[in-house]
Amino acid sequence: MFAVQFGRFGPPEVLTTGPFPEPHAGPGEVRIRVEAAGVAPVDLALRSGSSPSRDRLPLPHIPGVDAAGVIDEVGAGVTGAAVGEEVFGTVDVARLGGASAEYAVLKLWAAKPPAMPWTQAGAGGTSIETATRALDRLGVRPGVTLLVEGAAGGVGSVVVQFAIARGARVIGTARPENHAFIARLGAVPVAYGPGLADRIRTLTLGRAEPAPATLTPVAARADRPSDVARDDSASDVARVDPVSAVAEVDLASDVAREDRPSAVAGIDLALDVAGAGSLPELIAITGTPAAVLTLADFTGPRLGVGLSRGALAGEPDGWHGLAQAAALSEQGRFRIPVQAVFPMIRAAEAHAAAAQGPRQGKITLTARP
Ligand SMILES: NC(=O)c1ccc[n+]([C@@H]2O[C@H](COP(=O)([O-])OP(=O)(O)OC[C@H]3O[C@@H](n4cnc5c(N)ncnc54)[C@H](OP(=O)(O)O)[C@@H]3O)[C@@H](O)[C@H]2O)c1
Repeated sequence: MFAVQFGRFGPPEVLTTGPFPEPHAGPGEVRIRVEAAGVAPVDLALRSGSSPSRDRLPLPHIPGVDAAGVIDEVGAGVTGAAVGEEVFGTVDVARLGGASAEYAVLKLWAAKPPAMPWTQAGAGGTSIETATRALDRLGVRPGVTLLVEGAAGGVGSVVVQFAIARGARVIGTARPENHAFIARLGAVPVAYGPGLADRIRTLTLGRAEPAPATLTPVAARADRPSDVARDDSASDVARVDPVSAVAEVDLASDVAREDRPSAVAGIDLALDVAGAGSLPELIAITGTPAAVLTLADFTGPRLGVGLSRGALAGEPDGWHGLAQAAALSEQGRFRIPVQAVFPMIRAAEAHAAAAQGPRQGKITLTARP
């Protein structure tokens, strides 16, 4: 098969496209003929050699943890998946790659609805899984107000849409050039950086009388449970109610608001997707580290903030989010924002583009020229 690969660590130019041995589906896995694959921050870190995982990476290595395509092999023990089915999802993240190739093996997947373009499906897997896992862990449910630090990126843009689908109100941070983008996703935009609490306080104070137009679309959905759970035409996994699915976890949002010395009234929860060092401010804004979760800041646990790392840390995964994404996509309520699409032969350009801001969602590689 052909595959994007690198035989040494370095800049995007170390990526080449050439022959590579085909992988095969192991137990619980499916193999797909890839239509599209995503470029994720972890791919850039592994390729450059800056990832701590570089020492356990056999070279040459195929980058990519997200892919979509047509199933051509079904592994032992898999039920409900058939050759010829169009799916999207993620590789086994413990393998650290394998998606940017003619064939890839998926560990987590869901049926791709016709409404979801390949370029979105190929890039969405880990962002969807991560967003779902984080919202589950935070206990995001109807009526809560969630602050998302880093709302315009691959994960943040999914978090915003999923949180709104769960009935939450979302405030998202981004650089000013991205404010219109995240407002279109349904979040109230605010600039990140020093003074965040002051800027949010203005937004929140304005909410009560009268509700500013920017908050209205989110607020209007706040009392509406997810339509996914009520959609019997959705696939098996989509029938998992995204709200009840979190009922058994320790809900961070249950930390009583009145017991919190919060800097900003009304912000129930905060999710740090950016890892930009703002956890102390997010703790101050919510009033407690128990209401904050980070995906990218390893200082979190020292501050009492949960750090979610997924399967790599033995956490329950957010697999059910893939089918929810499919169902919401069919309803026109979800999309993977795709900033740029490159053919695999131009993978070096794609990696270079993914390393540059401003970001508006994902970078996708297509298997066809
Ligand atoms: N723990 C996990 O399971 C897990 C899973 C997936 C990803 N991650 C990590 O999560 C992070 C985000 O991933 P991604 O795919 O969303 O990356 P991405 O697409 O590159 O997005 C990064 C985001 O960070 C924002 N940002 C940059 N500087 C910021 C600052 N100073 N304050 C606040 N936001 C800032 C950017 O906003 P602007 O473009 O508006 O500047 C952009 O939206 C990465 O570190 C990734 O490794 C963790």
